[in-house]
Order: sequence, then C-alpha cells, then structure tokens
Amino acid sequence: MEKNNLSKQQIDKNLVKKRFARSAQSYGKYAIVQQRMAKKLVQKLLLATNNHTYNTIFDIGCGDGTLTKLLLAQFHPETLIANDIVDDFQQQIATIVQKHPATNTKFTAGDIEAIPLPDNIDLIASNAVFQWLNHLELFYKRLVKQIKPTSTIAFTTFGTNTLPEIKQITGQSLNYLPFNEHHKLISKYFKIIYAHEETDIQYFENPIEILKNLKQMGVNAIKPRHWKRRDLIAFSEEYTQNFTHNNKVRLTYNPIYFILKRKTD
Ligand SMILES: C[S@@+](CC[C@H](N)C(=O)[O-])C[C@H]1O[C@@H](n2cnc3c(N)ncnc32)[C@H](O)[C@@H]1O
Repeated sequence: MEKNNLSKQQIDKNLVKKRFARSAQSYGKYAIVQQRMAKKLVQKLLLATNNHTYNTIFDIGCGDGTLTKLLLAQFHPETLIANDIVDDFQQQIATIVQKHPATNTKFTAGDIEAIPLPDNIDLIASNAVFQWLNHLELFYKRLVKQIKPTSTIAFTTFGTNTLPEIKQITGQSLNYLPFNEHHKLISKYFKIIYAHEETDIQYFENPIEILKNLKQMGVNAIKPRHWKRRDLIAFSEEYTQNFTHNNKVRLTYNPIYFILKRKTD
C-alpha cells in the first residue's frame, strides 16, 4: 500500500472543519477514549486544585460537549464560553446548557489559532483538541498573555504513540509531540500542576471497524484519501497480520494530561 509521510505537513483546517462537521452526530457514540479522557481530566483538576470552583470557563474545541457537560455539572459556572472550529456544534451545546439555566453561555465559532481569546477566564479547558493545532508554541504564548494570575488551564491531547498502527501501514499521522517535548515546551510558559501520559488500547473485530470508527469521530481529517477496494483489502491484511490479539485487532492511543497555572516569577 502506498504510504504518505506527512510528518512535517500543516494541518488543513478546512478539512478538519469538514470532517468534524460530518461526524457531529456520531462522535459521541464512538469517542470512547476521548470520553474517558474528559472524565479523568475533571477528576485530576478537582484533586490538583483542591476542589476549586470557576466562575468563567472557556472550553476550546468543545465538539459535541463531551467535556462541556462535565464542566457544567461539576463547576456550575456563571459563564461558559464554548468554542469550536465547526459552527454546527453550537446546537449541541445549546441543548446541553438548557439543563443549566443559571449559566450564561456563549458559543464562539472559529479556529482557536486565529480568533481572539476571551478575557477574564478562570478556567481554560480543552479535551483532545491541541493535536489539531499547527503552531502550538505560538498558541501557548497567546494563552499566557491572556490569562489572569489566578487562572487555571486544564487540557488533554495525544502523544506520539497515538494510532501507530495506522501510521505503520498508511504512513499517515498527525504531528503528535512526545510527552517530554510537550512538558519542555509548556514549562517555558507555565507552572505545571499536573502532567501525565498513558496508553489506552482499544480492540475491534476487524480493521474495517477501525476505519469506520475513526471516520465516525472525524479523526480521518489528515489528508483527503479515496480508498479503492484493493487498498482496503491490503490495509486489512497487513493490519490483521501485525496487530491481532486473541482474534481482535488493536488500536493504540497515547492520552496526555496537563493542568497549568501562570508562572509566579
Ligand atoms: C476529538 S474532538 C474533541 C471534542 C470535545 N472536546 C470532547 O471532549 O470530546 C476535537 C474537536 O476539536 C475541534 N477543533 C479542531 N481543530 C480546532 C481549532 N483549530 N479550533 C477550534 N476547534 C478545533 C474539532 O472540530 C472537534 O470538535
């Protein structure tokens, strides 16, 4: 199978928008790893910041509201600002916030690398989004200028060992940074309160189920790819040969968690 080595390529934001918009209805059903990450992020946030509460929360790349729901239920903020590059998620967020009438909600659509960041935020949160950014360091520089001395940032992303099976066969992968590089970069700008990486392996009946799963989550937004029948057969054979365990095929994720504050010096 022809491999595309995309390791230095920029992310095509229009394609990201298109693929995530298409997955808007199915994402919640398939994004099992991202749901686990959202839950764990909130748990770690509570522990690391001693059950602190937040009046104003900004959720970057909120998607269908997987993390947003948990933030609302846990912190009952006065104000929630939800952002996503896909405008259509506004409807899903509106449905979620109906259950929280005491919270004022605003949805700001747009690429977080291009739109202005809001002021006066107590908690900036984001689950499984930053791997889609092109200029992470520039983004951190903007964040650190924007936050208050008391603000907290809590986010998850994915490290290098994410979907290595797909990369090995197709050559396609996002430019995932290893955990230690994230750590090094972040410590230039922020005080790290919590940092953790883990491996999360999912098992599927066959490789075609894996491709479907990635599509339903919008995670296939790296490069347009038109699979021919023979590509699918070759992909399935190679995948099965290399990654079968107890009659199932595996798919590996490498979730990364960070909780940050502004540096005091
Ligand atoms: C893997 S989903 C995560 C959704 C949600 N945060 C969750 O907890 O499951 C990634 C989300 O990030 C959004 N996204 C990707 N790139 C973005 C960008 N540059 N600016 C804003 N949102 C972005 C996508 O549209 C998608 O909804």
